[in-house]
Amino acid sequence: MRSVGDRRGYPTIACSERSRGVIARYRDFLPVNDKTPIISLGEGNTPLIYCPRLSERIGRGCDVFVKNEGVNPTGSFKDRGMTVAVSKAIERGARTLICASTGNTSASAAAYAARAGILCVVILPGGKIATGKLLQAFAYGAKIVAIDGNFDDALRIVREFSERGDFTIVNSINPDRIAGQKTAAFEILDEIGDAPDFHLLPVGNAGNITAYWAGYREYQTRLRTDSERQSNGSTKEPVMIGFQAAGAAPIFHNQIIQKPETIASAIRIGNPASWKQARAAIAESHGAIDIVSDAEIIAGQTWLARYEGIFVEPASAAAIAGLFKCCDSNEAAYSIKKIPVQSRIVCTVTGHGLKDPDIIMQRMKELKPVPATVNDVQRAIGL
Ligand code: F0G
Repeated sequence: MRSVGDRRGYPTIACSERSRGVIARYRDFLPVNDKTPIISLGEGNTPLIYCPRLSERIGRGCDVFVKNEGVNPTGSFKDRGMTVAVSKAIERGARTLICASTGNTSASAAAYAARAGILCVVILPGGKIATGKLLQAFAYGAKIVAIDGNFDDALRIVREFSERGDFTIVNSINPDRIAGQKTAAFEILDEIGDAPDFHLLPVGNAGNITAYWAGYREYQTRLRTDSERQSNGSTKEPVMIGFQAAGAAPIFHNQIIQKPETIASAIRIGNPASWKQARAAIAESHGAIDIVSDAEIIAGQTWLARYEGIFVEPASAAAIAGLFKCCDSNEAAYSIKKIPVQSRIVCTVTGHGLKDPDIIMQRMKELKPVPATVNDVQRAIGL
């Protein structure tokens, strides 16, 4: 705890550094200076949850952890990059932000724009945004435009607007977004004191896998050169394994998908902006890119909620479905049989389950009220 009344954007009372967001915690690793106004909602510091049942399911004495990014302020990992992108945009005098989104980027951009007191325009694929995410964009007061087209069309339009100079783009093609997203890797290194052996995550526009890989490398290098920490400095880098939805898997198939389709609407992307960087992360880490079907994604989502108490949106469940595929399938791009015993595995789950309730809501229709008596309730419980 220390007094924080010395910088714009912070209160005059003392509060813990971790609750002040990723810029306060990792300032030296981020492109900010004393003139940067800090636009933060207290993002980051998300739990790295040890999952005993998931570890048991995987076997081979492995420890599986879930990095739960769904508990960020707007319920997804996007907030880490958004705090940096919006702070830098304000420093440079931006008046209006713009982004294309499958939902989470727009919710995050709208929230940080509201916090900064500027307008945010979001361009979305019409009819393809999960209910909770669209609701957030409305709540935070964004100017919302739905298009007859997919995410890739929306990103093309947004790029054009940003080139004209009136808008600041806050998609992950903005390097400040990637810089902020690296902090998730920093947190994992700080928490377990080393890199995990394997890192699994969903891949859409491919910014996150790019940021994690850059984050692991950069932080390790900095720690190694830091003489104070050299004694316990580590040099390990994780194997990065990314998962795309089977109907939206351009990197896996090595070709643009014109009409991407998946129930995991967040990763319904046919031409990812950070395609090359993702490929580099996979190659340099000796990792892999693989696909999971919609049925596997829903099964992964249900499993994680029921057996570990972690409710994530379908796109996030691609990491869990992917882990199961590595274990169970002979067709897996990376088989768990290759994994050394007692490996440490981290799966990033990127967004909260409440954002995308539509599939589970269908199950709620089965719920019919019974008379309000102990006997009727006893009968309904059925035990
Ligand atoms: N998981 C969730 C919940 C996402 O919202 C996204 C991307 C991803 C995974 C994939 O991350 O794009 O860095 O590879 N959502 C973007 C959006 C595209 O507009 O919200 P990525």
